[in-house]
Formats: sequence, structure tokens, C-alpha cells
Amino acid sequence: MSTQAQRHRFIVVANRLPCQRAADAWRSSPGGLVSALSPVAQRHGGAWVGWSGVADDETEPEQQSDMALIPVRLSADEVESHYEGFANSTIWPLYHDHVVAPQFKRSWWEAHQRVNRRFAEEVAASAAPDALVWVHDYQLQLVPGLVRSMRSDVRLGYFSHIPFPPVELFAQLPWRTEVLSGILGADVIGFQRQADVENFIAACTRILGVDPREDGTIVGAYPVSVDSEHIGTLAKSAVRDGAPSRIRSELGDPETVLLGIDRLDHTKGILERLLAVEELFDDGTLDPATTRFVQIAVPSREAIPAYRQLRADVERTVGRINGKFGGLGGASIHYLHREYPFDDVVKWYLTADVLLATSLRDGMNLVAKEYVAARRGRGGVLVLSEFAGAADELTEALIVNPHDRDALKDAIAEAVATEAASAHSRIEAMATTVADHSLCRWATRFLDDLEAAVHETPGALPRLSALQ
Ligand code: F6P
Repeated sequence: MSTQAQRHRFIVVANRLPCQRAADAWRSSPGGLVSALSPVAQRHGGAWVGWSGVADDETEPEQQSDMALIPVRLSADEVESHYEGFANSTIWPLYHDHVVAPQFKRSWWEAHQRVNRRFAEEVAASAAPDALVWVHDYQLQLVPGLVRSMRSDVRLGYFSHIPFPPVELFAQLPWRTEVLSGILGADVIGFQRQADVENFIAACTRILGVDPREDGTIVGAYPVSVDSEHIGTLAKSAVRDGAPSRIRSELGDPETVLLGIDRLDHTKGILERLLAVEELFDDGTLDPATTRFVQIAVPSREAIPAYRQLRADVERTVGRINGKFGGLGGASIHYLHREYPFDDVVKWYLTADVLLATSLRDGMNLVAKEYVAARRGRGGVLVLSEFAGAADELTEALIVNPHDRDALKDAIAEAVATEAASAHSRIEAMATTVADHSLCRWATRFLDDLEAAVHETPGALPRLSALQ
């Protein structure tokens, strides 16, 4: 449980803590949510309530330099039924357009409610009077409603990092009423895209018969971003160090390097991308002797059967393509099933002439934004799915429907053939967009709206910016 004596004025609530217990030390956890939020929480102080990532972990709350870490314990059964089950085998596929079939199991729902209640109790016990509480993502949709029933004084925000589905899909969820009511406990409800906002409003209207905006709830699009300044600094030092040319030479000095970096997840369209590249080798559009396609697949949710099946399918496909096209000089597809530290990821961005961010469905796709931030002043081509949130902002990318094999092949071929001058100007335009809509601005916009949210005791707190 939390350190009851200590009450926090700003609390981030997310499925995972921004660190994981590894042996006797904490190390940073993977994931876009974590990379997006840790700097904000650190800058503003406060607390982060989340799971350590380890079943039955009894780790106690810990005060880190700027932020208290408040672990919520999940039993092994709850990891299976709440995290792997309800969150990642029901909601995740349902909200990503049925990328695999969602499973609806009552026992998972039971566990999910229990875990969300535990998170809410931790928040209610840790929040100072009138605290700002920012709940993140689809694993915790019931938390705003539960906290609201325990603490009427706090201001509550909810942000969804993943898409909100069209009502026709959402309505399949047997617990749709409870999920909507949970989210509606928040004063400010944020999504990545305007389309998600519209889907959410449609679901509330159709299923609950209410438009939450009518009672003062703010529902809006807050597209998440990256820290482009930090990425720029890492890129400069990697170039100074000669990393990109070293990596290129290790790859056999190919004419073209294509890159994909994704969690190994169905939503990312890795298989579809591999099949498109295979056909481009098959029909001679790309030369396997002078092209290298590096696919970094970060291990993810490996206990879930559908993810294990995906890994097997991807690895079989990579093997087949390399068997067909690999030469003595090496394989055409470099498949790396591992996680890299972020400064190494930036080196890969700098090595890649083309980034393939061709998700079948994606809340945002931060990899696309990271790539353009790293490539500023250096050119490079981004092939981006129209079904990724980033497509709303990165309009100078080659935008593609990744379900359309011919369109995907055409976009990859066009990317490889893009003139340097055009690549430079497109990257420059997109990097400017990313720098202007920074991670910091995203957090500030959301928190400003949350602070301004209708509240019983307005002005009880100094603005967060004054807390720095
Ligand atoms: O962006 C969606 C998300 O589930 C984040 O909440 C999380 O940080 C990331 O993907 C990684 O997923 P997981 O926590 O299941 O490993």
C-alpha cells in the first residue's frame, strides 16, 4: 500500500511504473506511454501509480529523485486474466479493428474490475486534497469512475493512447456500459485523433443516451508526441561518433537500408510489410543484393498465444525470404528480435534511408515521429500508414493503406526512388511539425485543460508550472 503519510498533488496512473525491478535495481520500462510520460512526471514532481511488471511483486513504494513510485500488486492469476486477458486479448484487439478476434470472458472481466479497483484505492489513498490525477490508457478505463466515487475533490483526466473504435465494434463489448461509465468519471477525456473523439461521443450517445460535453466534460484530441530536442541531441552525438556509417558497413554497405521498428504486435503490420518486400524482390523492383531490410521486433506480451503465433509466422516468413534471396554476402532481411536502448534506436534511424511505419491500426506511432526528429537536416523517407494517428500530422510522409499489397509495394518503391532534395524538404516539414507539437506541449495542453476543469474549489492549487 502507499505511504499513507505522504499525499501527492499530481498523480500519474498507468498500467506500468516507469521503471521495472531487475535484480536489485530499477530499470526503465519499454513502451511509448512510458517514454512519453516520465519526463513530465519528473518535471512536475508527484507520484506514479502502476504495476512493476512482475507478478506477485511485493515491492514497497519508493521515493525517486523527483517522483514517488507507488507499485500496485498483481497476482499471477491477475496478470493472466486482467493484463494478458481482458486488457490485451479483449480490449486491445477490439479497439484495433479486430486485428485478431477479441475474446469475451466473464472471469477476465471479474479480474479486470478487481485490479482497476485496487489502482483506484491506491490513488484515493495517495492523492492530496484537490490533487490532479491523470489516468492513462485502456488497461485502466474503470479507474476514473472508481476514483470519482471515492474522492469527489480531485480533478481527473483520462487519456487513451490507443484508438477508440467505431460504435459498431465497441457495442460488441458485453461490459460496454460499465466501461463508458468508468471513463466518464474523468473531467477531461483525451484521445489521439479527432476520429477517436467522434467514435467515443457516438458510443456515449448511442449506448448511454448522453453527450458528456453537455455537462461540462472536456472531450478532445491531444495527439501525443516525442521529445524532439532530446532526439536531436542523441542524433548529433551518434553522427559525431560515426555510428551510422559503421552500422551501414556492418550491413555490407548496401545501396538502400529499409527499417521497421515495432513491438512484435499484430497491429504493427510486420507480416504485411515483409510480404510486400518479398514481392518487390520477386518482381525485381528491389534488388536483394543491394537492399537491406532491418526489422527490429521488440518482444511483447509473449505469454499470449496470438502473440506467440505471430512471432512464429514472422520468423517463418523472414526465413523463407532469406532462403530465397540471401547470398553469401548476407541476408536481405535482418530480423532482430530484441529491445534496444533508445540511443541505439536513434542510430538505426540515422542508418535507415526509409522507415516503414505501416501499422494496420495504431493510436499514434511514435516511431514515425522519432524518425523524422532524428533525420532533421539529413533527409530520409517515411512510409506511414493512414491508420496510424501520426498520419493526421505527418502529411508529407508517403501515406499508405497497408492492407493494400500493391499500394504498399508502390509506396516502398517510391520511397526508395525519392530524390534527395525532396526527401530533405519533406523531412524538414515533418520535423518542424513534430518540434512545434512537442511532447511537452502535449502534456501542458492536457494538464492546462485539467486544471481549468470545472471544480468545486478552483484555484486551491498553484498551477503545475509554478510547482517546477
Ligand atoms: O501504447 C499502448 C501500450 O499498451 C502502452 O500502454 C504500453 O506502454 C505499450 O503499449 C507496451 O505494452 P505493454 O505494457 O503491454 O508491454
